[in-house]
Amino acid sequence: MCGIVGYIGDNNPTNVIMAGLHRLEYRGYDSAGVAVVNEGRLDCLKSLGKLKVLDEKLEASPLGGKLGIGHTRWATHGAPSEENSHPHFDGAKEIAVVHNGIIENYQEIRAALEADGVEFRSQTDTETIAHLVRKYYQGDLFAAVKRALQDVEGAYAIGVICKDNPDVLVAARHGSPLIVGLGDGEAFIASDVPAILRFTRKVLYLDNGQVCEIRRDGHRIEDLQGNTIELEVNHIEWDDAAAEKEGYPHFMLKEIHQQPEVIQNTLRGRVDEGSDEVRLTEMNISTDDLKKIEKIVIVACGTAWHAGMVGKYLIEKFTRTPVELDLASEYRYRDPIVPENTLMIPVSQSGETADTLEAIRIAKSRGAKVASIVNAVGSSVARESHGVIYQQAGPEIGVASTKAYTSQCTAFALFTIWLAETRETIDKAEAKKMIAYLREIPGKIQQILDNQDAIQRCAEDPKYRDAQSALYLGRSYNFPSALEGALKLKEISYIHAEGYAAGEMKHGPIALVTDELPVVCVAVEGETYDKMVSNIQEIRARSGIVLSVATEGNQNIEQHSDDVFYVPSCYEPFSPIVVAVPLQLLSYYVAANRGCDVDQPRNLAKSVTVE
Ligand code: AGP
Repeated sequence: MCGIVGYIGDNNPTNVIMAGLHRLEYRGYDSAGVAVVNEGRLDCLKSLGKLKVLDEKLEASPLGGKLGIGHTRWATHGAPSEENSHPHFDGAKEIAVVHNGIIENYQEIRAALEADGVEFRSQTDTETIAHLVRKYYQGDLFAAVKRALQDVEGAYAIGVICKDNPDVLVAARHGSPLIVGLGDGEAFIASDVPAILRFTRKVLYLDNGQVCEIRRDGHRIEDLQGNTIELEVNHIEWDDAAAEKEGYPHFMLKEIHQQPEVIQNTLRGRVDEGSDEVRLTEMNISTDDLKKIEKIVIVACGTAWHAGMVGKYLIEKFTRTPVELDLASEYRYRDPIVPENTLMIPVSQSGETADTLEAIRIAKSRGAKVASIVNAVGSSVARESHGVIYQQAGPEIGVASTKAYTSQCTAFALFTIWLAETRETIDKAEAKKMIAYLREIPGKIQQILDNQDAIQRCAEDPKYRDAQSALYLGRSYNFPSALEGALKLKEISYIHAEGYAAGEMKHGPIALVTDELPVVCVAVEGETYDKMVSNIQEIRARSGIVLSVATEGNQNIEQHSDDVFYVPSCYEPFSPIVVAVPLQLLSYYVAANRGCDVDQPRNLAKSVTVE
């Protein structure tokens, strides 16, 4: 997720752009850049690292002009570097583009352009857009952008300028947000409202497939086929702080609500639309090498370790490959055995967790191949791995991990399908069915997000809100769901919560059950549902408080529970991705009702970069 800002008017574009980019820095900041049209030239400055580096460069070498675009990057393709930072240009450096999103067919486009003699400067997908616009440009920038985007598949929000069109800023979106701000004799584009709120409160929300030509005194919008579109002008009431969270009270709640889009982005570009083939080329593992793998080791910490457990269950069930799951902090000190043909899959949102990094180094030193599931492009985990699956989840600001977790589980599901098909432990029909189930998940999550009243009601109920302790139970694929739900509650509400395998109840935890102990039971449809109901009955027999998570349409769970959260029916192996959402929301609302600092809980850091 990157940040884009553009400006056309009589002020210095760089001042507006940099002020806007700083308001978007939460969207990513591994590199940044600005380009302006000035006296028939296209001038540009870029920098690696945070925006303040670019500020310093601009102070030393100011840019002029009246038209410009800028970008703060969260890398998805191509590690952070100056050549990979935006804006990107055509060969003659007369057209500049900034982009947020993922161009899924960029490799095909790049190959075709290179065959026509086009030389690329970067490894990014974005640069293909600049060269495509050049290919179709015949003086009308708006027309060239519309034609270029007809060749593009994937998600984009773009700003485009051209040195020969000093009175025109072109913007377009499909799948990534982009707004147009309307001022007096000036206009703006931005990824998000906070970037332009100090300049105007009148905005247009571009919709998918729309291209906008913006001039000082007006604009026009068309779809890619040239049909004219009129958009309503919205007046923004938010203050600055609220705007950064898009109106949500906390980043955590915003990120919980981003999950339908995030799952789509994790899947984006990983499944061939025609053949339904899973392709994880960035893992850098050949099909032959994949077949040779005899053991998989998954290492991670915290929430990422819970995602790793989901991965273990999936990989063993469908690929029949033995999987060892370990906490990175334990793995690094137990002198691990690393047999030949071992693949390590580290999991890390930040890509900077010290224990996970050390586990990688140990495994590599003993001959393991390492392919990590990581969110931060170009992070230490990514750089020290032989290959990666980038989560494409965008920066996660809330300390409590939410969208990163469901994105990691989705990445494991993709890897499982790919490995199982390669090993022929599932056939093509089964693989297509599993991919179809994955594609249904964003809609199921959206259903939960649209029906939160039972969750909000429980979060206000003193038997949950004021509990001293809580137990979370699950079985099979949803044992990790219980662990993750408990971690969410404890880390933001400070209520002691423990996740347990429900089958372990009789081996100790049942001694804790009283009429003051809430027990969250994950009892969705599946092979172990009846066993879960037995556990629930044991808890009820001892006056325990039962909050069940069950599949909608379940007629009998209510009689065994004090409260029930219903989730849409879901393919059991992928149900942890869906089950996570009500548990995230419960933790969020309980913590908010307790007045806790939800986004920055006490004693915690977003990334544990020290032991
Ligand atoms: C999760 O809510 C916590 N913030 C924490 O457990 C986190 O998952 C853990 O520190 C691992 O971080 P990583 O994914 O960045 O490696």
